[in-house]
Amino acid sequence: MSLVELKNIYKSFGGVVALRGINFEIGSNEVVGILGDNGAGKSTLIKIITGLHPFDDGEMYIKGQKIDPKTYSVKMAHEMGIETVYQEKALAAKQALWRNIFLGRQITNRFGFIKVKEEKEITNRIMRDIIGFTGIGANPDSTIKTLSGGEQQGVAIGRAMHFDADLVILDEPTIALSLQEVRKVLNFIRKIKENGKSCVYISHNIANVYPVSDRFVAIDRGQVVGNYRREDITLEELNDELIRLTKVKEGNN
Ligand SMILES: Nc1ncnc2c1ncn2[C@@H]1O[C@H](COP(=O)(O)OP(=O)(O)OP(=O)(O)O)[C@@H](O)[C@H]1O
Ligand SMILES: [Mg+2]
Repeated sequence: MSLVELKNIYKSFGGVVALRGINFEIGSNEVVGILGDNGAGKSTLIKIITGLHPFDDGEMYIKGQKIDPKTYSVKMAHEMGIETVYQEKALAAKQALWRNIFLGRQITNRFGFIKVKEEKEITNRIMRDIIGFTGIGANPDSTIKTLSGGEQQGVAIGRAMHFDADLVILDEPTIALSLQEVRKVLNFIRKIKENGKSCVYISHNIANVYPVSDRFVAIDRGQVVGNYRREDITLEELNDELIRLTKVKEGNN
């Protein structure tokens, strides 16, 4: 059974049709790289899966359960084991790290008070064991904005891994990550795979996506235009494919 399955999904924003009949699947313990130009519909696709936007038409199944777009929400997605790191503002910038980790799911005592000490301790563990922060600079009280882009992604991934998400979706931040940060994010993805979970990774850099993905899905103007398993295609061939798809597109215009 697929973890997530989308059948003929449509989504418009006013007059803009962002998705036109998307068919898309994520298997269990599968890493899927999504590729496509600016405005292709990649972020819209994952926002539908994560409950941020309702879809207009089509069918979506999560772990075999049919999703009603009218009632599906980010909270429900969390409950179903789907976590995401958005391209835009993944994290609330002025917040302390520990607060961010427990955003929307505080540990409280029977009077409803937040157990600050426990949350900070767990944050420390997440930072050390999952994210691999060395402890220099960052601590549970650090504000998110003092962290580098890669570290911010790390916090979001650490959060997802701590809460044992079945699917972690990473929408590459628009601010360029340093080479070292990219390496960190790629290591997180490998860890997700090793832990038996699934990951969707959106990136403009094919060379980054290639080594960590089991499969690649190319999206163009709201449609899936290519689906490749890594074992069937080399990085060069994948590159050529994407260039070919761009040429087909130019030919159509
Ligand atoms: N909230 C919104 N309101 C109106 N239009 C939107 C909204 N979100 C996306 N769109 C439009 O839908 C189309 C697809 O956008 P989307 O953000 O999914 O692209 P993308 O593939 O993620 O692009 P990028 O690589 O630049 O991040 C674009 O034309 C975009 O302008
Ligand atoms: Mg996007």
